[in-house]
Amino acid sequence: MSKNTSKASVKRERTDLTIEDIPGVGPAIAQKLRDADYSTIESIAVATTTEISSSIDIGEKTAAKIINAARKMLKIEFISAKELLERRQREVKYITTGSEELDKMLGGGIETRTITELFGEYATGKTQICHQLSVNVQLPEERGGLEKGVVYIDTENTFRPERIVQIAESMGLDSREVLENIVFGRAYSSEHLIFLIKKIDEIMKEKNIGLIVIDSVISHFRSEYPGRESLVTRQQSLNKHLHDLLRVSDIYDCAVVVTNQVIARPDVFYGNPMIPAGGHILGHMCTARIYLRKGRENVRIARLVDSPHLPEQEAHFKITEEGIRDL
Ligand SMILES: Nc1ncnc2c1ncn2[C@@H]1O[C@H](COP(=O)(O)OP(=O)(O)OP(=O)(O)O)[C@@H](O)[C@H]1O
Ligand SMILES: [Mg+2]
Repeated sequence: MSKNTSKASVKRERTDLTIEDIPGVGPAIAQKLRDADYSTIESIAVATTTEISSSIDIGEKTAAKIINAARKMLKIEFISAKELLERRQREVKYITTGSEELDKMLGGGIETRTITELFGEYATGKTQICHQLSVNVQLPEERGGLEKGVVYIDTENTFRPERIVQIAESMGLDSREVLENIVFGRAYSSEHLIFLIKKIDEIMKEKNIGLIVIDSVISHFRSEYPGRESLVTRQQSLNKHLHDLLRVSDIYDCAVVVTNQVIARPDVFYGNPMIPAGGHILGHMCTARIYLRKGRENVRIARLVDSPHLPEQEAHFKITEEGIRDL
């Protein structure tokens, strides 16, 4: 344990505009919007006309006006690719994984504004990486963090605050403060998980969140929708959930890390039969997919698959008492 603890300072920011500031939203409509969980300008800006008009019982025209006004306020509009590149260079940030080799493979670390997926068999380090990132995101930028907090959603009951303490202290951080900056939620079903994501808007603003962890994104969906008959319903529900996540990551400028299980394809006889669960939907929505497997002892091998702008490659790291480290 390090005696030389320093503060993991998380900057608190707030924007002062509320939904009442949207032109056309009076107190009565504002109340109805809040009751229907549209409590921020962002959540209204990305909603559809039908969603708003049906959930608060107003005409489609009025709903469209409100949505457009919200979009104007947030400046959601078309931009040129050059502007997009400049915006990405300015706005996309990276969280260090704790291993330089792994960061290098990822082009700098875990990227904000996208969903990164960690998949692999049991004990390959998915949950350990999630713990490590929950500490690292709180570091100042020069140490590879964002100086922001975490929302950690656990579906498998494997989050351990004790492990956070161990990792934080090995890095010379004040572990109590690090724990304060992790908002923890246990999701008991897929519906509950979707409900928690809907509630995230409020937390995002209040706590200045830089990372959302969902460990694991798929387990409830798989157990609640077994068999082929329910596959379509399951995928639709998963799709909606992932869209919500992507929207949150983009609007609030944060990273999303989800873990996933692997399944063995019965029709593969040569090579590796293990593929990520969740099908195409998960594949489409995750910008970086990292396949983890075990090496000898505590060594783990990460392979980047399906990245839109990085080559497929591998990195080695190890899981230690102190957390994720280079070999
Ligand atoms: N405090 C620690 N010190 C060293 N190694 C640890 C520590 N805690 C856990 N580990 C190692 O981490 C590995 C477990 O990794 P992890 O829980 O991240 O797996 P996982 O990929 O999430 O698996 P699952 O699919 O079962 O959720 C084990 O090999 C374990 O030995
Ligand atoms: Mg796990």
